[in-house]
Parts: sequence; C-alpha cells; structure tokens
Amino acid sequence: MNRPRTGHEHHAARRPRRTTPMTARVASQRRFLMCRPSHFGVSYSINPWMHPEKPVDGALALAQWTRLRDLYRELGHTVEEIAPLPGLPDMVFAANGATVVDGKVLGARFRHAERTAEGPAYLSWFREQGWSELLWPEHINEGEGDYLLAGRRLLAGTGFRTDPRSHAEAQEFFGVPVTSLTLVDPEFYHLDTALAVLSDDEIMYYPQAFTPGSRAVLRELFPDAVQATAEDAAVFGLNALSDGRHVLLPESATHLIGELRRRGFEPIGVDLTELLKAGGSVKCCTLELRGR
Ligand code: ARG
Repeated sequence: MNRPRTGHEHHAARRPRRTTPMTARVASQRRFLMCRPSHFGVSYSINPWMHPEKPVDGALALAQWTRLRDLYRELGHTVEEIAPLPGLPDMVFAANGATVVDGKVLGARFRHAERTAEGPAYLSWFREQGWSELLWPEHINEGEGDYLLAGRRLLAGTGFRTDPRSHAEAQEFFGVPVTSLTLVDPEFYHLDTALAVLSDDEIMYYPQAFTPGSRAVLRELFPDAVQATAEDAAVFGLNALSDGRHVLLPESATHLIGELRRRGFEPIGVDLTELLKAGGSVKCCTLELRGR
C-alpha cells in the first residue's frame, strides 16, 4: 500500500478486519461443580419449558449429563460433584447453586419454593470443602443463572428470577462492577439462557430477550458480539460454556456453531435434550469455581 506519509502513521495504522483471529484461541483450565441428575425429573413447572405431563427418560438424562462431565475432563478441566438430594429435581442445574468470584461464594436464594432448599445445600458443600468467604444473601438471586463474569465485570440478569437489589449486594460483596441487564421473554428467564461469555471481552447473546435499554448497553460494551438467531436461542444455543477456546453448546445451534468457528473458536456440540425438558442445558449444569 502506498499511502502518502502524513506523519501520523502510528495512529492511523489499522489492521485489516479479519474474521479469524491472527493468534490461536487459548483455553484456560477451569474448575467446575456439577450435580448428577439422579433425582432429575419434571414434576412441577416454573418456566415455559417444563411440562410435567411429558415423560422424561431418566437414564438418558444421566447418560447425556455424564457425557458433558466427561467432555470437560477430556478437555483438561477439573469437575467436582455435589451429592444430589432427593426431592430436588432441578438440583442438576448447578449453575444456580451459587456465584463464585475470587474465592468468594455468594449463596443462592431461589424465587420458587420448589427450589429454595437448593441454596443452603450448595452453600453447605462450599463450607464443607473449606471455602471460607461465604455470604448468605439478603436478596433473591439464582447464582450463575443470572450472574456471568466477563473479564472483571459481572453481567447480571433480572426480570424473572434474580431481584435487582441483589445486583448491588453482589457488587458490594465481590468488589467488581456489576452491569444490570433486564430480560423480557419468559422463555429466556435466566441470563444464561440468553447470553454466554466467550472470552474476557467477547460474548454471544440473543438481543430480543432483553429490554431496549439493556440491548443498547450490550451493544456499547460488546460491539463485536455474536448475535444469536431466534432458532439458536430456541434450542438453548446460548446456554453455552467457553474455556476461551472450546465452546460447549447444544449441538442443534447450527448457526452459532458456524459463527463461532468463523471467529476461531472450537465449538463442541452436546446433546442434552432430556435436561432441556426442564429448561436447562450445558451452562445450567455447570457452576464455575473461581479462585481458591
Ligand atoms: N427448571 C429450572 C428452573 O426453572 C431450570 C434452571 C436452569 N438453569 C439455568 N442456569 N438457567 O429454575
């Protein structure tokens, strides 16, 4: 290129926009908490995906869940397990059990009576495992269902489950900036059903699941975000887990899988259709244990 010299080359120099990154995506080793779906089922309905009259194949649910756990281990991640409790069919959705940042554990306080016993059960696990900075929250929050860490910023959902007052509580406890986002579509009742963090500064999300104001905030913070189609969102494609390189997500989210590949990620399609009958998938089954 022979541009005339202006003396401002340094500032003017722009790299050509690429769809694939110049450097390979790097995975970082993660530590997860999961809960085997021994008592999984759909016996009540607290979100539009749950139809208690529809049968659930318990053996298949367990096989699908086991495959996800083993995949994490094959990728080099550590998976710990909390003992499932009878009478708590949704306890498999470990993401809802707490939020963990810098070794600090914010307990979960559920919106629905059917799940309230899960909060203390998860917090006890942390106490027993020697985690010492624990907070039993004042306000309702459903753990990583509504709290997703992107770099050093906590993206926080509200609208259906987590009380907006919990966002201030989380910011005070963790000491990281919390960004409130409001969900509007009952099918996407938790933040992790409408948005996934891909790396410290990249996300993918379904704009229609958010209020106009929250959409604008997301556009401002993440102008290059991957936008999911209605089809991706409807198969829970955003309920994904990224380690910085590999992105585990429902295998039927084909548009997202192509988009992720184009951006240099390594998408791995997973089949969790039995768990989807309760309104959960990859991310819902996975609680990240950060720092300690
Ligand atoms: N049946 C559960 C509920 O409605 C599903 C929870 C899914 N978990 C999640 N992190 N989105 O509460």
